[in-house]
Amino acid sequence: MEDTRLVTPQFREEDGEIDSSLRPRRMDEYIGQTRVKENLQIFIQAARERGEALDHVLLYGPPGLGKTTLAHIVAAELGVQIRITSGPAIERPGDLAAILTNLEDNDVLFIDEVHRLNRAVEEILYPAMEDYALDIIIGKGASARSLRIDLPHFTLIAATTRAGALSAPLRDRFGIINRLDFYSSADLEQIIARAAQILKIKADPDGIATLARRARGTPRIANRLLKRVRDYAQVKADGVITAQVAADALNRLEVDAQGLDRVDRLVLETIIGKFDGGPVGVETLAAATQEAVETIEDVCEPYLMQIGFLQRTPRGRITTRLAWEHLGLIYPKADETNQGTLELS
Ligand code: ADE
Repeated sequence: MEDTRLVTPQFREEDGEIDSSLRPRRMDEYIGQTRVKENLQIFIQAARERGEALDHVLLYGPPGLGKTTLAHIVAAELGVQIRITSGPAIERPGDLAAILTNLEDNDVLFIDEVHRLNRAVEEILYPAMEDYALDIIIGKGASARSLRIDLPHFTLIAATTRAGALSAPLRDRFGIINRLDFYSSADLEQIIARAAQILKIKADPDGIATLARRARGTPRIANRLLKRVRDYAQVKADGVITAQVAADALNRLEVDAQGLDRVDRLVLETIIGKFDGGPVGVETLAAATQEAVETIEDVCEPYLMQIGFLQRTPRGRITTRLAWEHLGLIYPKADETNQGTLELS
């Protein structure tokens, strides 16, 4: 099911044009994720100096934070070509074999959604990553023989929203594993200011700050909201994005002051209204909200947890006091920090 939410961090067709003009091309244009960036820069320089392929890299974290962009930048900084594909696009082992044999030494192969590779394809990847080799079985039964073909020394950069869904043998073959985090409002302000400049959109600092606060810590959402608010500023105001214009536009788009949209609020309201604030299991929650488990787990929950509205416990999801108060409700639970009650009992 295609996600039609304005704040979905998932890639949408309409993002294509905007993303390619806004995408930073080099590491020094890439804002935020400082630790990941600094580490990668060291490994890139070392690999370059030795004239070797960079070790395989796994990037994981919520959608829309720039995993694909970073892969492009790594290839550019290495001065090599990048070949791009995704887990679901590689259907058969032969598809992957064809890609691998066409790479050149030190090239980058980027596989998005690597957790969706099928088992047979994944098994081709093990010797490819470890020994730069393809093992091909010729013949059947007793006469079957294994033939080894050498591959170019390449770097696999793999991206996933769910590192936990990777098999241990695959995960263990990455020498560099980095998690991307949600961006701070300050980082998002810089990203929006840069995008506004490239797209020649007039926005004042308070307008940019309002957008940044409502972009769910996610550059892809920030850029998308910027486009929509620009339309609103053009039609309903004098073309300049001010705090007031941004807030009005985003309210109309049902993106609230914390960046939550209807689906986020539905998830919270369902836990509160139907399950007394939780705990509730994700399957039950998915059925009650008619959203996919994947959408709830990969898109809604990471952000709701990041802003302290939701907790995952072994018994299920629970909403916090902050969530209740955000929705204008009075939190009914006894204050867990009230030690007096415990002492009395
Ligand atoms: N556009 C999207 N993500 C970005 C980032 N991390 N830095 C600069 N521009 C971006």
